[in-house]
Amino acid sequence: MSVHSNDDQRKVTTRRLLEMKQRGEKISMLTAYDYSMATILDQAGLDVMLVGDSASNVICGNATTLPLTLDEMIFMAKNVAKAVKRALVVVDMPFGTCSGNPKRSLEAAIRIMKETGADSLKIEGGEELIEDITKIIAAGIPVMGHLGLMPQSINKYGTYTIRAKEESEAKKLINDAMLLEKAGCFAIVLEKIPASLATEVAQKVSIPIIGIGAGSGVDGQVLVMHDMLGITQGFSPRFLRRYADLNGVVTKAVSHYIEDVKSKDFPNESEQY
Ligand code: KIV
Repeated sequence: MSVHSNDDQRKVTTRRLLEMKQRGEKISMLTAYDYSMATILDQAGLDVMLVGDSASNVICGNATTLPLTLDEMIFMAKNVAKAVKRALVVVDMPFGTCSGNPKRSLEAAIRIMKETGADSLKIEGGEELIEDITKIIAAGIPVMGHLGLMPQSINKYGTYTIRAKEESEAKKLINDAMLLEKAGCFAIVLEKIPASLATEVAQKVSIPIIGIGAGSGVDGQVLVMHDMLGITQGFSPRFLRRYADLNGVVTKAVSHYIEDVKSKDFPNESEQY
């Protein structure tokens, strides 16, 4: 039983997210990469499930999100979509699959939608990708934008530090958010920017703004599941609240199991045929 029991079992749609913003109900979003965890998150009542390219880090063990391929993303998204009955499933377009060639971007977007059964896509970038995003939306595919810290551009930034502290970058971000809304995006993720700027954007646009490290003045929050459940270690940005210590729980359980196998305690009489 979830603490905040979500009685409304209707499928979450992009329209329902908009209605949530309009009535001031905050949107909950987490990442998921596999069938079993997606089942748990969905049954707990999560609104939006993101098959994020953070999978490159937490699933594949890469240092950045760049190496994740379209095929790898499709494999994970298909398994998540199979599990989810209620949440809106969003899939990240992996690095290089939406990068200024609208025809190629649309082909990749259609592959994800056809082969996974997901509900929508997320794309990192603003003005530079407006043509790609417009083409994808014109094909009937809902798109969530992503501005602020964009991990796919880490080689351009050289650091994962807070973005848009300078006025010029803040202005560009506001302009990008308005362009994304005009292009038809149904929501935007703002990552690691000053809370005051994120609040301003959430007030300026009518679509939902989901923050990660963007303060409380936005319409919803997203975290990487492995971080908030305490599976990952050695990553403690200020914005991360850990809701469990699964690393500790799993380590304890596995150590106990090893001990029982070594001591011949497992299996016992009632655990065999
Ligand atoms: O890939 C991801 O997990 C994300 C979230 C950080 C928003 O894009």
